[in-house]
Amino acid sequence: MAKIKVKFACTECGMESPKWLGKCPGCGSWNTMVEEKETVIKTSGAAALFQAKEKPRSIIDIDSGEEPRVETGMRELNRVLGGGIVPGSLILVGGDPGIGKSTLLLQTSNALASKKLTVLYISGEESVRQTKLRADRLGALSASLLVLCETNVERIHEAIDSVKPDFLVIDSIQTVFDPNVPSAPGSVAQVRECTAHFMRVAKGQGIATVLVGHVTKEGAIAGPRLLEHMVDCVLYFEGERHHSYRLLRAVKNRFGSTNEIGIFEMGETGLSEVSNPSELFLSERPLGVAGSTVVASMEGTRPVLVELQALVAPTHFPSPRRMSTGIDHHRMALIIAVLEKRNGMFLQTQDAYLNVAGGVRLDEPAVDLAAAVSLASSFRDVPTRPYDVIFGEIGLTGEVRAVSRSEQRVREAHKLGFKRVIMPENSLKGWNPPPGIEIIGVGTVAEALSAAL
Ligand code: TYD
Ligand code: MG
Repeated sequence: MAKIKVKFACTECGMESPKWLGKCPGCGSWNTMVEEKETVIKTSGAAALFQAKEKPRSIIDIDSGEEPRVETGMRELNRVLGGGIVPGSLILVGGDPGIGKSTLLLQTSNALASKKLTVLYISGEESVRQTKLRADRLGALSASLLVLCETNVERIHEAIDSVKPDFLVIDSIQTVFDPNVPSAPGSVAQVRECTAHFMRVAKGQGIATVLVGHVTKEGAIAGPRLLEHMVDCVLYFEGERHHSYRLLRAVKNRFGSTNEIGIFEMGETGLSEVSNPSELFLSERPLGVAGSTVVASMEGTRPVLVELQALVAPTHFPSPRRMSTGIDHHRMALIIAVLEKRNGMFLQTQDAYLNVAGGVRLDEPAVDLAAAVSLASSFRDVPTRPYDVIFGEIGLTGEVRAVSRSEQRVREAHKLGFKRVIMPENSLKGWNPPPGIEIIGVGTVAEALSAAL
């Protein structure tokens, strides 16, 4: 029987140590060492077998043309990837269990297979029959979509050699294992080794590879952070389990921007793409209530209208609560300070909550003004007008500053039937608003409040 050895590995940097340490000597993080058991001790040079054989080349000889991209047949996914899948790229798709990662990838695989590309879908979590049942439901039945239920990296490699796929899906990286690595599947060492393995496959043979990864309680992809450094793109598939829509977000992309989000809706027959997200985000909006505003925010290159809600309520505690979801809480503190100092609102005895409806995150400063109007509306208990859209950045003196892409934001508001836009006056130059929508340019928060409330 093999001797069981115990070692500890850091989930951030992969550093190993024979004993447990509170602080990782490798990266300095606290509480990241986890126990790993070594059972089989076997050394073979198999790892070296898959090294790509390339000679150093002069930089002048390297073709710098546009990365060729393969359209996936799913527009939202193409958008997040920056136009399509780059051959030879390694993509990590993370998300909570049950959020729909397997569904997304099976649909993508099918879309690619129906373009006559060979797709190899490796399922380490479900049997071939289960995958077939799902495929039946999704209508994902292209002949060149090949399915294999396997978790041993060496056997997966044999399958790759025999079918030579154009696109490879590993569902999931936590279930596959390299028999030469003496620890359990899903452990730091295994995840790292297997990822390195698929990286060599992707780069060496030019096979676009997608790894599925589960997300831990803390929100990181299980296994070492290292995984995120190794791959070309990291996409997160997120959403509320109780809502049907799902967001696909790039947090790292070596071939495009990380600003774009893809929006899907989960239905009876799988994921469908949402081409007009504003309609979706505004679908549950209450009209004419205090604290609710609509902001025109840019998600990458696309304007999206989202509802912002604020609740300001008296508190009996000396330090009032400030809570925000979907908006940076530092930003919220700044807006509250401006409202107090410049607009004479006494918020120190009030709890304040700010929420972006629909679970979206709004990172850009252009949402400031709408947040301020929401907070003021709730504080004064004066309802906002249901057909107003508000955007603009707030400065510390209470001024409203210009934001980019105003025209696109206004056009989106117009398209969805909004009647008025309250926006920075400095953003009005150089373009003409579409007919039928009233534009109110404001220079200060006070002006915006008197226009909106
Ligand atoms: P799945 O893709 O298995 O999630 P993951 O791989 O991220 O763990 O998705 C599972 C959920 O999606 C499950 O709760 C059922 C739901 N679902 C639908 O609502 N419609 C469908 O057509 C499919 C295939 C799944
Ligand atoms: Mg799955």
